[in-house]
Amino acid sequence: MAASEVDAFANEEKRTLELSGHVGFDSLPDQLVSKASAQGFCFNILCVGETGIGKSTLMNTLFNTTFENEEASHYEQKVELRPHTYELRESNVNLKLTVVHTVGFGDQINKEQSYKPILEYIDAQFEKFLEEELKIKRSLFNYHDTRIHICLYFIAPNGHSLKSLDLVTMKKLDSKVNIIPVIAKADTVSRNELEKLKIKVMSELVSNGVQIYQFPTEDEAVAEINSSMNTLLPFAVIGSVDDVKVGNKMVKGRLYPWGSVEVENEKHCDFVKLREMLLRVNMEDLREQTHARHYELYRRCKLEEMGFKDTGTDSQSFSLQQTYEAKRKEFLVELQHKEEEMRQMFVNKVKETEAELKEKEKELHERFEQLKRMHQEEKKNLEEKRRELEEEMNAFNRRKVAAETLMGQALQGCSQQPFKKDKDKKKLTCQTVSRAGTILFTLDWSHRCSRHAEHR
Ligand code: GTP
Ligand code: MG
Repeated sequence: MAASEVDAFANEEKRTLELSGHVGFDSLPDQLVSKASAQGFCFNILCVGETGIGKSTLMNTLFNTTFENEEASHYEQKVELRPHTYELRESNVNLKLTVVHTVGFGDQINKEQSYKPILEYIDAQFEKFLEEELKIKRSLFNYHDTRIHICLYFIAPNGHSLKSLDLVTMKKLDSKVNIIPVIAKADTVSRNELEKLKIKVMSELVSNGVQIYQFPTEDEAVAEINSSMNTLLPFAVIGSVDDVKVGNKMVKGRLYPWGSVEVENEKHCDFVKLREMLLRVNMEDLREQTHARHYELYRRCKLEEMGFKDTGTDSQSFSLQQTYEAKRKEFLVELQHKEEEMRQMFVNKVKETEAELKEKEKELHERFEQLKRMHQEEKKNLEEKRRELEEEMNAFNRRKVAAETLMGQALQGCSQQPFKKDKDKKKLTCQTVSRAGTILFTLDWSHRCSRHAEHR
């Protein structure tokens, strides 16, 4: 059947017919209810708030049980998310509840990145669900859905307004999850201060464009209560698992030296309103909003990122095969481009190294030439010195020979004229003088020859 025929068939006007007797399909809602009850439900709560603000206590109070409660230290290096899953049963309804706590939130000196692990955790759960959806053999029917349905954001009661950490975190999370802000430990501030804080918090959220979860007002059955509750946000809550005696009955509350506060007393806090809105009236809407709004947004962005489109450039309907082919081509072109880039980078690197080596070789050559010149210069100087010394030696030898000849002649003369008396002896001296004028030898008549030290 051609596409146009399919469209025409779909647009054909439908006729309304009367049934002449009971058929039985009016039991479909009951079938759905019994099927859903048998299958069970899952609900995932994320508690975001500073260490010790009362997250665990409120969870215990909300579900009237005792969950795991590991106290966090105030010295965590980073924010960590710890999920715990529990199986709960009320009447004949099974609930798989996951409570996720932000451990170490608000304890770091630099809180700039505190929201990141929370965002990553939420995205990771969406990603897991998307992977399951895209599997060839998928089993969404019994898949453990861990997507966060509600984020209870705990605001500290002892301040004038929201902290910048609260604003930044809520702003980052508001497109990913349903946020319900609560003012924790509401029993620690006076009624007036609490009212002022509520107004301030809401005005700050509005002026900063933070989208918190709005209880739905489309369904007539809950429109009234939901719209009135929307005006009471943020809920101021008190948590306690202790029973205190009020009058002659035991109630959940906190006991102080001056009196007691009751968790379920609407004059004392909004705990009952929170429980009503969260669990009794809007639990299904929270689950639906998570799937239809937040997950849908994540899925759309992710698929677009992967190259999927509902319509092609020519407004043709979406074809998975074509999209795959187009994406593959795009990927191959990108790969080629990257390869070329890397090759070019390698060539440039080789060229650079070659140039560096050449420069080094030139330097070495110059140094060698310089050393060679210095060596030649020194050799020349030494040659000069050697020549001078040789000349001096020759001159000395010549003078020595001359002196010896002179001495021989003098001795001969002396032996021919003998002396009569010692005192008449005439001193006959002969001196050999060096080129520099230094007396080298003194020869006296008695053949004694003494050598004078030569000082330069
Ligand atoms: P970490 O998990 O360690 O981050 O703490 P938490 O946020 O889970 O707080 P937790 O519920 O452990 O409570 C910390 C302390 O605050 C305990 O001593 C509680 O009794 C007390 N607390 C909890 N809720 C309230 C409350 O509503 N009012 C008052 N006054 N104290 C509360
Ligand atoms: Mg805790």
